[in-house]
Amino acid sequence: MRVPFLDLAAQHAPLAGDILAAWRGVLEAGAFVGGEHVEAFEREFAMACGTRHCVAVGSGTDALRFAFMALGLAPGDEVIVPPMTFIATAEAVTQAGGRPVFADLDPATHTLDPARFEAAITPKTRGVVPVHLYGQPADMEPILDVAGRRGLWVVEDAAQAHLATYRGRMAGSMGHAAAFSFYPGKNLGACGEAGAVTTDDARVAAAVRVLRDHGQATKNVHEREGYNGRCDALQAAALRVKLPRLAAWNAKRAELAVRYGELLAAVPGVDVSTEAEGRSSSWHLYPVFVEHRDRVREFMTRMGVGTGVHYPVPLHLMPPYAHLGHREGDFPVAEDCARRVLTLPLYPEMNEAQVAIVVEALSRAVAAAAR
Ligand SMILES: Cc1ncc(COP(=O)(O)O)c(C=O)c1O
Repeated sequence: MRVPFLDLAAQHAPLAGDILAAWRGVLEAGAFVGGEHVEAFEREFAMACGTRHCVAVGSGTDALRFAFMALGLAPGDEVIVPPMTFIATAEAVTQAGGRPVFADLDPATHTLDPARFEAAITPKTRGVVPVHLYGQPADMEPILDVAGRRGLWVVEDAAQAHLATYRGRMAGSMGHAAAFSFYPGKNLGACGEAGAVTTDDARVAAAVRVLRDHGQATKNVHEREGYNGRCDALQAAALRVKLPRLAAWNAKRAELAVRYGELLAAVPGVDVSTEAEGRSSSWHLYPVFVEHRDRVREFMTRMGVGTGVHYPVPLHLMPPYAHLGHREGDFPVAEDCARRVLTLPLYPEMNEAQVAIVVEALSRAVAAAAR
């Protein structure tokens, strides 16, 4: 593959010495779950996000589920989510006892449309989950305004948006709570599974701490049933090595995204996603929108360029949500996005020559697929 979709080995090569040294310390201390590295990472990540609290958990999915439960989600409650996201956003609502209700996207940014969100509110709605898809923050001001007027909580799904900003505010610091994923391919990725909840609310943070640890605040004294949703020390230690590099990595992603935009402007048949005014994306992914997407993708693979599809089917048309009774046409913006989206390689270890190779391959693939 001339340009792989992702190259984690390239990311880790210069960090291996530091990560292995940190892991040796964990091995020697024999403290594998929770402990010093986890607590230090929580402080450091809260500082990076500008929140009072960060609670590290086992995954981004845990983070979402625990945030919903900490905010008091009860059986039968409705939570509004966009249909174009990774399934975890909706899955965590169901796992927390709620019912996901979909609302369509803003076609310019592919994030939750505030007007559609408002229209989807019912007397059972308790909260909303704006997803900062591909790294671009959702339009938080109107979402927070509607939520505030209607007495709803807001949990940001910031799994793809580490250090992204919206009108000067950090992703993960705007809602009542936010969920981050540190899945290895994320902008800040662990060497395994990890996630975190950020919040300014001490009660939410305390509830998440209890939920992640079998409902116990004191060893073997359980306030409620909870989960095994803790962050392990090896992951926290690796994340601490990477966190100081995150801003520079994101800046490199942004530079490459600008280069993609410049080159793609000259390619017919390719729509790009741009940052809305006042928002800076973490550029977790670089989505483009093309006709005959699957054929374009196949041609690119043959030319040695890896691509992704995030996501091929919107949630309302997938079997786990068939019981909600949706059909094609219900959320046309999400459906169009799923039909045409193709995500291009974008990671800090790439260079501009590789961006040019990807654009050349895309341009030839789009022309070939149209024939
Ligand atoms: C938008 C979104 N939400 C939630 C998640 C879930 O995170 P995790 O895989 O760490 O459970 C992911 C990542 O996979 C994601 O991209």
